[in-house]
Amino acid sequence: MHLRDILRRRRMVRHYTGEPVPRETLERIAATVRRAPSAGFSQGQRLLVVDAPDLIARIAAIAGEEEGVEPWLPSAPVHAFVLTREADYHERYRSEDKLQDGEEIEWPVPFWYVDAGATLMLVLLAAIDEGLSAGVYGVPVELEPSVRELLQIPGELRIVAGVTIGRGAPDPAWSARTSRATQRRRSLDELVHWNRW
Ligand SMILES: Cc1cc2nc3c(=O)[nH]c(=O)nc-3n(C[C@H](O)[C@H](O)[C@H](O)COP(=O)(O)O)c2cc1C
Repeated sequence: MHLRDILRRRRMVRHYTGEPVPRETLERIAATVRRAPSAGFSQGQRLLVVDAPDLIARIAAIAGEEEGVEPWLPSAPVHAFVLTREADYHERYRSEDKLQDGEEIEWPVPFWYVDAGATLMLVLLAAIDEGLSAGVYGVPVELEPSVRELLQIPGELRIVAGVTIGRGAPDPAWSARTSRATQRRRSLDELVHWNRW
């Protein structure tokens, strides 16, 4: 599929048929993590792909989303968590070729989150390229310890977001849940300037 076709299809899907996704398909989607850019090639991105139904049911229970008209989290056969290991960046930028005047750089922005975002996007696009749908959710701060414990995520990894992946089911109530329905899409002129701001 051409990128422009993938982008046309890209939207957050919050309801799935529950049909399992073959492991080979998931492996192709997950392998995109190795294609993501990363600052200094620090490669701090990690993916935790959850396709065990009992774990997904427990994630949904933690989120308090066991049922509903369009039960988002429990209906997805796959949850992929995008994680980041910030320490990879500090380690990389303390190596000889990256030091500036003998010091680690002053970070313009936290590149570990930038790279996690790039990874997230690749996962979304790869899922669509496989004919699947995907949706992103943030893990609320108060629920994070429970998710971390359930999935045995080590303390050195930060959970950036969860991505549900699966075959999209009809979701007429989508418009009630998406901020797309309430927020104006900014014009291109607001978002893109040329030559000087
Ligand atoms: C980092 C991130 C976190 C998000 N968290 C949630 C979430 O917790 N719940 C939700 O319904 N949508 C979530 N979204 C989806 C956005 O609301 C959605 O991308 C936005 O409304 C634009 O809609 P579209 O992606 O369908 O074009 C999240 C998106 C991103 C990138």
